[in-house]
Amino acid sequence: MTQAWKKSDWRSKPRVQMPDYLDADALNAVEAQLAKYPPLVFAGEARRLKKQLGLAAEGKAFLLQGGDCAESFAEFSADNIRDTFRVMLQMAVVLTYGAKVPVIKVGRMAGQFAKPRSAPTEVINGEEFASYRGDIINGFDATQASRIPDPARMLQAYTQAAASLNLLRAFSTGGFADIHRVHSWTLGFAEHDKAERYRELSNRISDALDFMAAAGVDSSTAHQLSQVDFYTSHESLLLEYEEALCRVDSISGQPVAGSGHMIWIGDRTRQPDGAHVEFARGVLNPIGLKCGPTTTAEDLKVLMAKLNPQNEAGRLTLIARFGAGKVGDNLPRLIKTVQEEGANVLWTCDPMHGNTIKAASGYKTRPFESVLREVREFFAVHHAENTIPGGVHFEMTGKDVTECTGGLRDVTDENLADRYHTACDPRLNASQSLELAFLVAEELSKTRLAERRVAL
Ligand code: PEP
Ligand code: CO
Repeated sequence: MTQAWKKSDWRSKPRVQMPDYLDADALNAVEAQLAKYPPLVFAGEARRLKKQLGLAAEGKAFLLQGGDCAESFAEFSADNIRDTFRVMLQMAVVLTYGAKVPVIKVGRMAGQFAKPRSAPTEVINGEEFASYRGDIINGFDATQASRIPDPARMLQAYTQAAASLNLLRAFSTGGFADIHRVHSWTLGFAEHDKAERYRELSNRISDALDFMAAAGVDSSTAHQLSQVDFYTSHESLLLEYEEALCRVDSISGQPVAGSGHMIWIGDRTRQPDGAHVEFARGVLNPIGLKCGPTTTAEDLKVLMAKLNPQNEAGRLTLIARFGAGKVGDNLPRLIKTVQEEGANVLWTCDPMHGNTIKAASGYKTRPFESVLREVREFFAVHHAENTIPGGVHFEMTGKDVTECTGGLRDVTDENLADRYHTACDPRLNASQSLELAFLVAEELSKTRLAERRVAL
């Protein structure tokens, strides 16, 4: 991080995927208001997460990152937050058992509001509208008025993020996250007729917990069993919002993004000389960088040097999102670049964004089989290269939606219309998420992360 960096420097760089606000005075007023509000996270938490991600890069921990594609104002409720949190905890228990290392839990929550889009406009029932860009920018309703970017939405997003984070913090330490309770929910899933494959693993987890209890280690004696660390993350797309919440860490004197613990740069906004990279490079938080089929070795080199000039452990997570069938052509070449540069990175797999298709019914969907196949390919490449598969990144919800096809309860193309609620991309439902956790746990038990285990 160079001394000269200022949180507004991104303004002089080329920007893509950001709205043009029509009313500059209204925008300035919102920015001034947000700049006075408290940050949502504390720099010490971001540093702690960075340290843990550094351990994941060495195979001593594993990252589980998941949540909505786009959080929405309409779907905001305690139940939705609780259900997503609950499934992430269930997944984490299963993954911890498979990986034999601590699982770092990071939600795509409390700030995941702004969306890059493939086209600036879309046609709905024959009429052309500006594309929906996430509730922090414009409205989902197909009316010309609602699609106009409105800066006041940033204030509502901030309020929703603050309330979400408050509830997540309460759930994390208030008893909800007790491992015995979480595992008992998972048992219900493993009892499903078609889940025999998962029953054995689930029984082994029960045995391990029973053994620990018999040995006197339970929630009343070990707070690790009753509380969890839970972090937040989002794509830092709307830079006016990010800048307004950027603060100086009173301990280190460094700038910190106060909007969430971890921020990431999307596949469409990772131009090495662009505004999004310019903002992210200056804050101390852990940074994610999506890597897709169009990521070149040359760009990756420049991006790693810009985003992590000191080659700090845990600073940079490369989120591979190539699509099933494309991992073998792309991941090895980028791993080679990382190795040539001697760069310290954490590799994780986003098996969602390269696997979106349009179903015959017209819905955007993702076949569970493709998601699973990409995860397997990711592990296989790391195994072959002798590098570390350090985490997974999913779009998921705790609700029983029908957005991705397949899985144990077999969502079909015809079912998609039943409960298709996403404001943007299709998410795994609770059952598909847990099923995937079991399958990732199987992959993990084949890798040898456990040999490197440490306590977080
Ligand atoms: C996302 O994570 O929601 C997203 C848009 O991903 P990507 O930038 O990888 O396409
Ligand atoms: Co998405």
